[in-house]
Amino acid sequence: MRHNLAMRILGIETSCDETAVCLIEAEGDFGPSFKWKVLGNALISQAALHAEFGGVFPNLAKREHAKNLVPLLERALKESSQPAVGGGQLTNSQLSTLNLILEREPELHASLIPFLKHRGKSDIDAIAVTYGPGLEPALWVGINFAKALSAVWDIPIVAVNHMEGHIVLSLMDTGNTESHSNVLQNVRMSGRLADFEFPLLALLISGGHTELILSKSFGTYELIGQTRDDAAGEAFDKVARLLGLGYPGGPEISRLAAESRREGIPLHTPALPRPMLHAPSAKGSGGPREGNFDFSFSGLKTAVRRLVEDKEVSDEDRMGIAREFEDAVTEVLLTKTLRAVDVYGANTVVVGGGVSANTYIRSSLSSQLEARSSKLLLPPPELATDNAIMIALAGYFHALKKEFTEPSELAANGSLKLG
Ligand code: KG4
Ligand code: ZN
Repeated sequence: MRHNLAMRILGIETSCDETAVCLIEAEGDFGPSFKWKVLGNALISQAALHAEFGGVFPNLAKREHAKNLVPLLERALKESSQPAVGGGQLTNSQLSTLNLILEREPELHASLIPFLKHRGKSDIDAIAVTYGPGLEPALWVGINFAKALSAVWDIPIVAVNHMEGHIVLSLMDTGNTESHSNVLQNVRMSGRLADFEFPLLALLISGGHTELILSKSFGTYELIGQTRDDAAGEAFDKVARLLGLGYPGGPEISRLAAESRREGIPLHTPALPRPMLHAPSAKGSGGPREGNFDFSFSGLKTAVRRLVEDKEVSDEDRMGIAREFEDAVTEVLLTKTLRAVDVYGANTVVVGGGVSANTYIRSSLSSQLEARSSKLLLPPPELATDNAIMIALAGYFHALKKEFTEPSELAANGSLKLG
């Protein structure tokens, strides 16, 4: 039964190469009273399609999102046993509104109209959709989809910053993370807020971002450091490509590196650089100097290129390079994070983004922060990469504050910042 204070939020995520739709039910303020559960969740990863390009190809992503969204919505609603409210007829005025909203999305238009006729209105209080950062053509599909549903079902829209979604998801206590089934289907997940105190230091590591962010209360963010070139995930992907591994590169490199450590194979590769590791410490110098908390990963990729260029690379070399690369990235992320914890007096470190699925980075952060008695919040590994649950959760807190966005003012913002 639905509690009368609970809200149902439909989450939509299309910023990169995952198309995802979910329905969650949540109640309570941002505090101990808050609780949520997933009613239905559906996700299609396009990673295999983009693999041949060695990265995400924006127009292919856009096309796939357009193809996937309606079937995913159908699946998520079915899984949640959502009753359709009222008849499914569309009036002429609704049809012309849809024509206008989906003018640039013919494929979405073609699949959405029969769905809406057949389905009728669902019991949903708000639609949370990612509006940035990400690939603009990809973001637009999700946004136009949200606008179409909002117009026909008369439901308000919450525009969600994708990076805030990663942070909010990592703030959740989802109990025993090992027991969750594959995120692609039937996630019977529920949770509350983890026990933590502000200020939070967020380390966001994904395919497009590497940032350290300070948050003193929910919804306020201050950027204190970021990558000057490649993002951490991007470095994993590019190095994987240099090593002839598949896309996305993170899991592949992580697997080889773990094997190399497990087998105790001595490193035959020269050490890779630890870029910007020794940018001057701010401690005692009257505040952080610019650059202290910035990252740079493109030099690492270049160093790997030099190691493999025009050479026979054996499997053992590959394992050694993967391990040395993962060590280097981890050392830089860890050093900067710990330094920021000291300088800003953060009690809690929250890690989010696809790279936070990395086992070695997780365990290194965990042992170092435990030694300092700081709290570490990590997302369940299967929800570290993009999904719609994180968008619905972040959207809920904005919906609580009635922070809705006028559909006519909602636009994709590929380089949207946090704070
Ligand atoms: O957050 P995400 O799903 O998409 C963006 O918003 O960018 O992050 C994707 C990135 C990819 O670069 C991928 O290689 C990386 O996360 N990634 C990993 C691991 N799993 C995914 N990197 C390192 N280790 C992993 N296990
Ligand atoms: Zn992401």
